[in-house]
Amino acid sequence: MPLKTFLPLLFLAAGSHAQRTSESSEASITDPASECAPYAYAPVTSALAASQFPPIWTPVASLLPNDAAGLALFAKINSSIPNIPPKGTMAGDFSNFTPTYPATDPDCWWTFHQCTQPKAAGLSADVASVPEARTLGYGFDDGPNCSHNAFYDYLTAAQQKATMFYIGSNVMDWPLEAQRAVADGHEVCVHTWSHRYMTAFPNEAAFGELWYTLQAIKLVAGVTVKCWRPPFGDVDDRIRYIAAQLGLETVLWKYDSNDWKVGTGGVTTATVQANYDALIANVSAGVFDTVGAIMLTHELNNYTMQTAMDNYPALAKAFDHIVPIAVAQNQTQPYVETNYTFPTFAQYIATHNASTVPAGPVPGANSTTSSASNVTGSNTGSGSSSGSGSGSSQSTGTGVSLRVGVGAPLVLAVAMGVLAVL
Ligand SMILES: *[C@@H]1O[C@H](CO)[C@@H](O)[C@H](O)[C@H]1NC(C)=O
Ligand SMILES: *[C@@H]1O[C@H](CO)[C@@H](O)[C@H](O)[C@H]1NC(C)=O
Ligand SMILES: *[C@@H]1O[C@H](CO)[C@@H](O)[C@H](O)[C@H]1NC(C)=O
Ligand SMILES: *[C@@H]1O[C@H](CO)[C@@H](O)[C@H](O)[C@H]1NC(C)=O
Ligand SMILES: *[C@@H]1O[C@H](CO)[C@@H](O)[C@H](O)[C@H]1NC(C)=O
Ligand SMILES: *[C@@H]1O[C@H](CO)[C@@H](O)[C@H](O)[C@H]1NC(C)=O
Ligand SMILES: *[C@@H]1O[C@H](CO)[C@@H](O)[C@H](O)[C@H]1NC(C)=O
Ligand SMILES: *[C@@H]1O[C@H](CO)[C@@H](O)[C@H](O)[C@H]1NC(C)=O
Ligand SMILES: *[C@@H]1O[C@H](CO)[C@@H](O)[C@H](O)[C@H]1NC(C)=O
Ligand SMILES: [Zn+2]
Repeated sequence: MPLKTFLPLLFLAAGSHAQRTSESSEASITDPASECAPYAYAPVTSALAASQFPPIWTPVASLLPNDAAGLALFAKINSSIPNIPPKGTMAGDFSNFTPTYPATDPDCWWTFHQCTQPKAAGLSADVASVPEARTLGYGFDDGPNCSHNAFYDYLTAAQQKATMFYIGSNVMDWPLEAQRAVADGHEVCVHTWSHRYMTAFPNEAAFGELWYTLQAIKLVAGVTVKCWRPPFGDVDDRIRYIAAQLGLETVLWKYDSNDWKVGTGGVTTATVQANYDALIANVSAGVFDTVGAIMLTHELNNYTMQTAMDNYPALAKAFDHIVPIAVAQNQTQPYVETNYTFPTFAQYIATHNASTVPAGPVPGANSTTSSASNVTGSNTGSGSSSGSGSGSSQSTGTGVSLRVGVGAPLVLAVAMGVLAVL
C-alpha cells in the first residue's frame, strides 16, 4: 500500500508578499500575470507601517496627524485659498450643484464648459494644447499599471518619451513600475491619490490628494514632480490654486480618445479608433499648424496601451513631432531635484523626429534597450523607494480605477513542490 506523502505548504501571512527590489528586474518581466503578482517593497511597507500615507485607494479625508510638513504647508496657504465651496460628489454627481451654478462660470470649472483660463487672480492658464506647431504632446493617465512592460518596451524601442500621469495609490501598489518611468526618461506628473472628482473635496482633503501623491512619487522614484492632471478634468480655481501652491502646473487636454470609456455609454473600440483617426486627419487638414495637440489617452489596461501602440506609427507619420509635455514647453528641469535634465524641444527633435519612426510595429521592443536612447541627458536612476501591491483593480466605467480587495486579508499559499492529490 503506497505511503501517502503530504508535501509541505508554506503559508504567508496577510500582506507578506514576496519582496521585489529592483526596477530593472521588474522591467524585464514579460508575462503580464507575473508582472501583476502583488509584491512587497520595503520603503513602501515601512512608510505605510509608520502611518506616513493615507489608506491606498481611499479618498483623502485630512492630512495625517504626524505629517508635520504637510500640516505646516497647508496652514500657510489655507487663508489664501479662493473662497469657492466644494461641488457635487467625489463620484462626479453634480446634479444638485449645476442648477444653481451661474452660467458665467465664475470658478472656471472645466467640467462645466471646459474653461482653461482661470478667473481668480494669479493663476496660470491650464495646459490643454502644446505650443509647438504640428506637434503632439504625448501623455498617458492612470498608471503605473502593473502590466505596462510591453507598452514601455515599445516606447523605448521607438525612442519615444511621454508624460505619465500617475495615481498615488498605483504608485504605492506598483513602486518598481513607477520607478521605470523615471529610469526610462519619461516625465512623471501627479494624477491624485484616489482618482476622484477633485472639485468635490474640501480644501485640506484636496491638498492631501495632491500632497500624498507627490510624497509617494518622491518616496518611490526619488523625484518631486511639477505637474498634475485632474481626473476627469475636474478642476476649478480653488483646486488650481491649491495645486499651484504645491508647485503643480495643471495639464488638461483638448481631444479625448475615449479609450477609458470603451464598453460604457455606447463607446466601442471603433469609436476610439475614429477619435485617433480624426486627430490624425486634422494634422493634414492644418488644424495644428499654429498650436499642437494634446489627446487624452491611458495606461489603464491592456486595451488602452495596445491601442496606443497600434496607433503610434500613424501618429508619428502624421505629426512632425511627438514629445512629452515638458519638452514641448522647453521645460528642461522637470523635477524639483536639479540633477534631472530634459532636452529642449529643439534638442529633442534633433534626434527624435516622429516622422523618422518607421511605419508598422517597432521591432524587438524590450526593456533592456532603455539606456540606448539618451535624450534625457542625466535622467537616470530611480532613487529610493517603496511599494506593495495587493488586490486587483477595475475600471468602474466612469474612468475611475478602483482597486478592489485591498485591505482584505490576503493569504498567499506557496506550494513547495507538487501538490499531491491524496
Ligand atoms: C483654514 O481656514 C479656515 C477658515 O478659512 C479655518 O476654519 C480652518 O480651521 C483653517 N484650517 C487650518 C488647518 O488652518
Ligand atoms: C478636428 O478638427 C475639427 C475642426 O477644427 C474639430 O472640430 C475636431 O474636434 C478635431 N478633432 C480632433 C480629434 O482633432
Ligand atoms: C492593468 O492592466 C491590466 C490589463 O493589462 C488590468 O487587468 C488591470 O486592472 C490594470 N491595473 C490597473 C491598476 O489599472
Ligand atoms: C496585451 O495582452 C496580451 C496577452 O497577455 C499580451 O501579449 C500583450 O503584450 C498585451 N499588450 C500590452 C500593450 O500590454
Ligand atoms: C523653445 O525654445 C526654442 C529656442 O530653442 C524657441 O524657438 C521656441 O519658441 C521655444 N518654445 C517654447 C514653447 O517656449
Ligand atoms: C528634425 O526636424 C527638424 C526640422 O523640424 C530638422 O531640423 C532636424 O534636422 C530633424 N532631425 C532629424 C534627426 O531628422
Ligand atoms: C532584450 O534585448 C536584449 C538585447 O537584444 C536581449 O539580450 C535580452 O534577452 C532581451 N530581453 C528580453 C526580456 O527579451
Ligand atoms: C548621455 O547624455 C549625457 C549628457 O548629454 C552625456 O554626458 C552622456 O555621455 C550620455 N551617455 C551616453 C551613454 O550616451
Ligand atoms: C539625484 O540625486 C538624488 C539624491 O540627491 C539621488 O538619489 C538620485 O539618484 C540622483 N539622480 C540622478 C539621475 O542623478
Ligand atoms: Zn484618470
